[in-house]
Amino acid sequence: MDIWTFTQDGYREEDIVTNGNRFLVGNGYMGFRGTMDEWGRRQMAAVCLAGVYDQNGDRWREPVNAPNGLFARLTVNGADMALGAEKPLEHRQTIDFRRGVHKRDTLFEPVRIQSERFASMAEPHLLRSRLTLTFRQDAEAELLCGIDTDLWDINGPHLFDYTYKTSPFLLTEARTGELNIPVAAAQNASADFPCEETREAAETGVFRRLRFNAAAGQTYTITLAACVFTGLDGPNPGERAQALCGQTRGFAEDLTAHEAAWEAVWSASAVELHGGGGEAARSLNASLYHLHSIAPRHAQSLSVPARGLSGQTYKGAVFWDSEIFLFPVFVHTEPELAKTLLRYRIDTLPGALRKAAEYGYRGAFYPWESQEGGAEGCTDYNVTDVFTHRPVRTYFRDKQIHISGDIAYALWKYYEITGDDSLMREGGAEVILQCARFYLSRAHRRADCDKTELLDVIGPDEYHERVNNNAFTNQMAAHCMSCAIALADADTDFARALIQKLDYDADLALLREIEPKLRPVFAEGALIEQFDGYFSLEDASLAAVRSRVLDEREYWGTNHGVAAHTQIIKQADVVALTALFPSLFSDQTVERNWRYYEPRTEHGSSLSACMYALTACRFRRPDLAWEHFVKTASIDLSGGGKHWAGEIYIGGTHPAANGGAWMIAALGFAGLSVRNGEITLNPCLPEQIETLRFPVCARGKRVTVTVTRQGWTLE
Ligand code: BGC
Repeated sequence: MDIWTFTQDGYREEDIVTNGNRFLVGNGYMGFRGTMDEWGRRQMAAVCLAGVYDQNGDRWREPVNAPNGLFARLTVNGADMALGAEKPLEHRQTIDFRRGVHKRDTLFEPVRIQSERFASMAEPHLLRSRLTLTFRQDAEAELLCGIDTDLWDINGPHLFDYTYKTSPFLLTEARTGELNIPVAAAQNASADFPCEETREAAETGVFRRLRFNAAAGQTYTITLAACVFTGLDGPNPGERAQALCGQTRGFAEDLTAHEAAWEAVWSASAVELHGGGGEAARSLNASLYHLHSIAPRHAQSLSVPARGLSGQTYKGAVFWDSEIFLFPVFVHTEPELAKTLLRYRIDTLPGALRKAAEYGYRGAFYPWESQEGGAEGCTDYNVTDVFTHRPVRTYFRDKQIHISGDIAYALWKYYEITGDDSLMREGGAEVILQCARFYLSRAHRRADCDKTELLDVIGPDEYHERVNNNAFTNQMAAHCMSCAIALADADTDFARALIQKLDYDADLALLREIEPKLRPVFAEGALIEQFDGYFSLEDASLAAVRSRVLDEREYWGTNHGVAAHTQIIKQADVVALTALFPSLFSDQTVERNWRYYEPRTEHGSSLSACMYALTACRFRRPDLAWEHFVKTASIDLSGGGKHWAGEIYIGGTHPAANGGAWMIAALGFAGLSVRNGEITLNPCLPEQIETLRFPVCARGKRVTVTVTRQGWTLE
């Protein structure tokens, strides 16, 4: 089995959406969905840009798609050779994870169309494709190729005032509606055969028409370069896009540079997994491929949306997924990327301060769905009821307060793992102090006892809204407070200056008093109640709750959802707590809670299975972890996860699960732990795995970890 490629044979219309995700190519700056060269809006073709957002009217804010400069549609003797319009004799689509190259090979009656496409890992603004047309009969052929502006949008349109130029390169420029951000795409093409070329600006873009007489048995090759810049990259994006078009080398040279850049990525992070029949290794490669395709290597301060660059789903927003599920792989393999993710939070602190103030609190309350500059993308009505078609009031934005603690947690982890305090100095410490301040002002002191509580919250399990004392949230908040105290106690120059700048002395005194009263006490071996009153809810089985579902798209949470009044939870919550704070729990406590909560978990979020796998390794049951590993790692190959919520498309790639797959392999199966640059291992290999080998970056040095059934080595 080739563990570095995934191929699908045959064409099925119902696979179009999933294949758009599965076969995506990307480079962190943009993602190009795995659609055919000739497809457009209807098949959800899209070039998703990282970090560029727009709002159309009062619809949801979402990221902006760039015009598609790799558009190419062939007609032969006047007949459209478009997959879907014309029935293929053969069709095959492949993604090469190692090289980041997408291929299609479609045989129509008169012609075979093959293409290769990549989003250059060496040049973030560049997309490339090469079309190879092999004719089976003499024919009059016409290739329409250019920049298609008829874009897929969920809540668009987002681009207005298009202008078009046809020379020297094709160029289109437009502006976003809300913030007037210029977006430009230029295209260059080069054909290896004589043809008659005309150029035209049309309503849906700017195109070249290449007409030629094709001969039976002959192959005709054309390469395309599409260059994308926006106003966020600096002034004159149109000129820059054209300039880059002018600088591109031949397709082969660009491909070589792209492949070399991918090799560098893999040398920092590839996980060799032997065993499991190759399927597990391939899934893990696919997971890491998807993660690296969207990692913001081109930026200093940017994070990753919950559905990566596969579309506008989830409003292109950044969730806790980044800190809890993506940060671990990056901090252990490419710490610079971990910093880039965290700098995004440091730089968006003003948004978090504003949000806290809006709700009447002090400190930093980070957005649940963060967009550029820390704008909150989460709306009050985030779900539509499938029965009444009415918007449902959800409280994710208001009550999922663990988000601030999650960010502080990752900042602290960076410090602990690397021993490098540069992020703390660059603003990380300020984030922690402001998050702790938020929890101080959000906490309630009980009048009847000496406890402090966090009331009316939502934990990771979103099916139970507005609960009191969610154990995960209380622990995250208390941990954040203890980090703030530790920063002050370390008495560094920067912490002293910060405490003065933020006028933090009184907060510090209060933190010292409140933190021990908020921090949950976990008795040895005890079952942890997810929140106050959870154990009194109906203890219905998952099957019973599922049988109450009337419409497969209905939402299980909020007041009337089928899970809300039962102990069925959406995703790991207490189990996530035991995974993230291992030193607080004995193996027995972890196991007892795992065994209680696992059958009660729907795993309705792709974030869930990874936490169950990690904790199963903790109590040394890799056999229990395996199933959750396979589910996590294969999600984007199998097309798993939820695709629709009512009429809203919520599918896409699953970066959190992709990061989770690495976590299970490295932190779970290999038992990797790094503190202050010191590496330790505590392997727990499932019977399916013979060897695991992967690089770790510790104290700036790359070390290769090898784990076998006999033991482990570091080289
Ligand atoms: C999950 C959240 C997650 C979000 C984005 C939701 O379905 O419940 O925990 O952050 O998806 O991945």
